[in-house]
Amino acid sequence: MGKLYALFIVNIISLIALASGQCFVDEKISKNMYITWGAQHSYMSADGEELQFVLDKSSGSAVQSKYDYLFGTFEMQIKLVPGNSAGTVTAYYLSSTGVYHDEIDFEFLGNTTKNPYIIHTNLYTQGKGSREEQFYPWFDPSADFHNYTIQWEPSKIVWYIDGTPIRIFRNYENMRIPFPNKQGMKVYSSLWNADNWATRGGRDKIDWSCSPFKAGLRRFRARTYKWNGPSSTYQCGYQTPGDLLANVYNKLNYGQSKKNELSSSQLGQMKWIRDNKMIYSYCKDTMRFKGNMPPECSLQQYY
Ligand SMILES: *[C@@H]1O[C@H](CO)[C@@H](O)[C@H](O)[C@H]1NC(C)=O
Ligand SMILES: *[C@@H]1O[C@H](CO)[C@@H](O)[C@H](O)[C@H]1NC(C)=O
Repeated sequence: MGKLYALFIVNIISLIALASGQCFVDEKISKNMYITWGAQHSYMSADGEELQFVLDKSSGSAVQSKYDYLFGTFEMQIKLVPGNSAGTVTAYYLSSTGVYHDEIDFEFLGNTTKNPYIIHTNLYTQGKGSREEQFYPWFDPSADFHNYTIQWEPSKIVWYIDGTPIRIFRNYENMRIPFPNKQGMKVYSSLWNADNWATRGGRDKIDWSCSPFKAGLRRFRARTYKWNGPSSTYQCGYQTPGDLLANVYNKLNYGQSKKNELSSSQLGQMKWIRDNKMIYSYCKDTMRFKGNMPPECSLQQYY
């Protein structure tokens, strides 16, 4: 017992040191990101909190974060292209690089006037994707900014819209299902021409007479830590030193952290959205997988 106690103290001291280190990030978009494509097609507001992408025949635009992160909560307010946005895609996602990359996606597939956008989500682990889920929005995503959040934790990934969870992917590594937790990811966002596939499978093309197309990003917040290589795994994924301590305490006492579990009302909201607004889930696509469904599809994700 004394030994465990000593270990506990040592852990706490080193964890406080790590957590209060300089790696915590909560920066606005102008500080955190830079333009990687179409510099003439994006406009930053004077306060550095808002970025507008413009797509015309010559180019769209893209940004990415300066740093890699491991775990965290990544929040962006987005206002999509209004009117006839068919063939355009706006994306907001996390990704690492290389053949065995991980990726957590939000993509917004435009549509002809008055027809609904598709909110497309996907997850890649170690280079393998094919985990699409799609939703119709329950609001007009081009009328105003809405809050799209990716919560990436050691135990699960949650996609949120305006605080409502729409999808969860739990860590079932103990059942040999890969989970993204070994490499950092950068944050990306872009607006581009994808009219070969995006709207009704590519049947609706971009109507360039409606261009320029404009999408807005605002109030980016990444509550996370910079990733500095494999040793960062242990340090990161906690928002404050207090969270870190609570987590250590929970681990020692109960074997498992209950932190950040969804409330029953959030789970109820998610169920409503999945019952009423989900239009595609890879887990229901038996034709595609010829009955050989991905293993996570038969495991509990939501309750
Ligand atoms: C956006 O959603 C996240 C996740 O639910 C929440 O923590 C955050 O407070 C929301 N931000 C705004 C500005 O609504
Ligand atoms: C566009 O609208 C059509 C008709 O309502 C719908 O079938 C389709 O799913 C919508 N979205 C996209 C991106 O094609």
